[in-house]
Amino acid sequence: MDFAEQLKSAVDIAQVIGEYVRLRKASSARYTGLCPFHTEKTPSFSVNVGKQFYHCFGCKASGDVIRFVMEMEGLTFLEALKQLAERYGIPMPQKPMASDPESKLRDALSAMHDLALQLFQKALQSSDGAQARAYLQKRGIAPQTTEEFQLGYVDRTGQFLARRLQQDGFSPEQMEKSGLVLQREGGGFFDRFRNRLMFPIHNESGKVVGFAGRALADGDEPKYLNSPETPIYRKRNLLYNLHRAKQPIRKSGHSILVEGYMDVIGLWAAGVQEVVASCGTALSGQQVKLLTRHAEQVVVNFDPDAAGSNAAEISIDVLLQENARVRILELDGDLDPDEYVKKHGVDTYRQRLTNAASYFHWLADRARKRFPVRTAEGRVEALKYLLPVVQRIPDKLERAAVANDVASMLGVEPGLVLEYFRKAALDKRESRAPAPVAETVRPVERMLVNSLLDQPDIRQAVLERLCAMRGFAALETRRILEAMAGLEQAKPGFQFSDLEARLEEKDRTLLASIAIADEMNEHAEPEQVYEKVMACLKSLENTEVDTARRELESGIKEAERAGNMQEALRLYETLNQLIRGRTTVRTG
Ligand code: CTP
Ligand code: MN
Repeated sequence: MDFAEQLKSAVDIAQVIGEYVRLRKASSARYTGLCPFHTEKTPSFSVNVGKQFYHCFGCKASGDVIRFVMEMEGLTFLEALKQLAERYGIPMPQKPMASDPESKLRDALSAMHDLALQLFQKALQSSDGAQARAYLQKRGIAPQTTEEFQLGYVDRTGQFLARRLQQDGFSPEQMEKSGLVLQREGGGFFDRFRNRLMFPIHNESGKVVGFAGRALADGDEPKYLNSPETPIYRKRNLLYNLHRAKQPIRKSGHSILVEGYMDVIGLWAAGVQEVVASCGTALSGQQVKLLTRHAEQVVVNFDPDAAGSNAAEISIDVLLQENARVRILELDGDLDPDEYVKKHGVDTYRQRLTNAASYFHWLADRARKRFPVRTAEGRVEALKYLLPVVQRIPDKLERAAVANDVASMLGVEPGLVLEYFRKAALDKRESRAPAPVAETVRPVERMLVNSLLDQPDIRQAVLERLCAMRGFAALETRRILEAMAGLEQAKPGFQFSDLEARLEEKDRTLLASIAIADEMNEHAEPEQVYEKVMACLKSLENTEVDTARRELESGIKEAERAGNMQEALRLYETLNQLIRGRTTVRTG
C-alpha cells in the first residue's frame, strides 16, 4: 500500500473534514453539512466514512480526504499529505518525497516564519525587549496572554532577522518572497519590521504565515506595519485568531468579528474566545465563508466611530451574500471592544452581546438618523437606502418578513414596500441547486454499484455476468461498471479512488452521487449483500426480457393486423426462443 492509501485509512475523514465544516451524522457511515466550496443554506455536502470520500450535490465537488485538504488549504498533493501526516502523527516514509518548486518555496517561507517567530519571542524576553514589555503592561496584556498569542519584539537594527536568514542559507529569492525582509539598492537585505511589537498571524491550521508589527511610540507611523501578500499569506483568505477561535465559535454558535488585533486579544483574555479580526483589509466573501463554516451567526463588533460604522455597513452586504445571520453590536461610551471589556468587565460585555440587534434594526436606526423620516420624501429616501440590503437576503420568507419590518419601522405604507420589492424579485430569481444525479438512476443499478464498491469478493462473478447481459449497454451506470470490470482485471481489490481516476468527469459525478447516497449496505453481511446483488441481477435480466417480450408481442399483433403472416411467424419464433431463454435465466 502506498503512503497516500495508508494515510487515508489511518485518518478519520469525518474528523478531518469536521475541523472545517460543521457535520451532522445522517447515518452510521454518513455525515452531512453545508458545503465549504459554495454558498448554500441547506446542506448538500456529504461525507461517506465507509468509502472515505466527500461529495456535494450542489456544486459537485468531491474527492477523498487528501483532495479535501488540498482544496481547503490551497496545497499541492504532497503538501496535503504532509500536513495530514503531521497533524495526525502518522510517520512519513524515510525517503524524502520529491516536491515541486512551488511547494519547496512555500516550505522555505514557512520555515522562515517559524524561525522569525522564535527569534521575536526570545527578543521580547531579552533586555532589548524591555520597552515592548513595558508597553504590553501599560496595555494590560498579561504575560500569559503574551505567551498565548506568541507576541514578540524586533529590534531597530534592521539586521535582526535578515542576518540570521542569510546565515541559515535561505536563498535571495526565498528571502525576497518571504515579505520579512527587503532588498537594499546596493544588494543585501534588511528587516521589514524594526523596533516593533510583533503579532504573528496564523492560518486556519495554525501555521504562522505573516506578521503585524505595532509601533511602540505614539506618533510612530504607520501604527501597524503588516506582512505583504506572499505565497503563504493571502489576506482575503484568512482571519486573525481563527485557528484558536474555531472551537469556541462552534460551541457558542456565533462568531464575533472585531476590527483590531488588540480587540481580539483583549476579548480573548477576558474569556470571550469566539473572536476574530480581518487583517487590516475589508471583509471578503472568502473570509465570511471561513466563519460560517463554523457557525452561521456573526456578530459584528467594530469600533464605535464613523469609520467603524461605515466598515460595519459594508461588511453587512458581504455577510448577507454568504448567508450569514448578522447582528451588530455597537458599544457605548466611545469604547472599542478591548477598552469596553477592560472597563466594564466580561459580564457586561456578554450582556451587550446577547442583546445585540439584528443588522436590520441597526441599519434602520441608521436610516432614521440619516434621513428626515417625518416627511414623505425622507421616508422614501430611507426606503431606497434599505432596499438593496433587503434584496440581498437570499431567503424568500425572511426577505418578506424584513420588508414588512421596514414598512412598520418607517411608518410607510406596506404596499409601497411590497411594490419596490416585487420589482426586485423579478430581477433576482432564486437559483436552485440541480437535482442529484443519483435520483435519475434506477434503484437496482444504484444498489449494484454500491454493493460492488463495498464487497470486493463478489466483484468478479457479478461483473462477468453483468457485462454479458444483453441490456448492459442500456444501463445508465454502464461506463462505471465497465471501468470496474477493467480494474478488477488489472488490480483486484481496487479502491474507490482507483475507480474514480478511470472515469470521465460526468461519470465521476454520477458515481459520487450514487455512492454517497448509499445506506443500504452499511450493516449488511457479505452473504446478505451477495444475495441482494443476485436478486438485482435477476430483476435486471427479467426487465430486459419483459421489455423484449412486450415489443415482440405488439409486433406480432401488428403483423397479424396487416396480414403479414410470414413476419408474424418469424416474430413468434423469436418470442418462443426468448421465453425458453428466460426459463434458463430463472433456474440458473
Ligand atoms: N490596521 C492596519 N494598519 C494600520 C492601522 C490599522 O493594518 N496602519 C489594521 C490592523 O489590523 C488593526 C486594525 O486595522 O488591528 C484596527 O486598527 P486600530 O483600531 O487602529 O488598531 P487596534 O488593533 O485597535 O490597536 P490599538 O488598540 O493599539 O489601537
Ligand atoms: Mn482599535
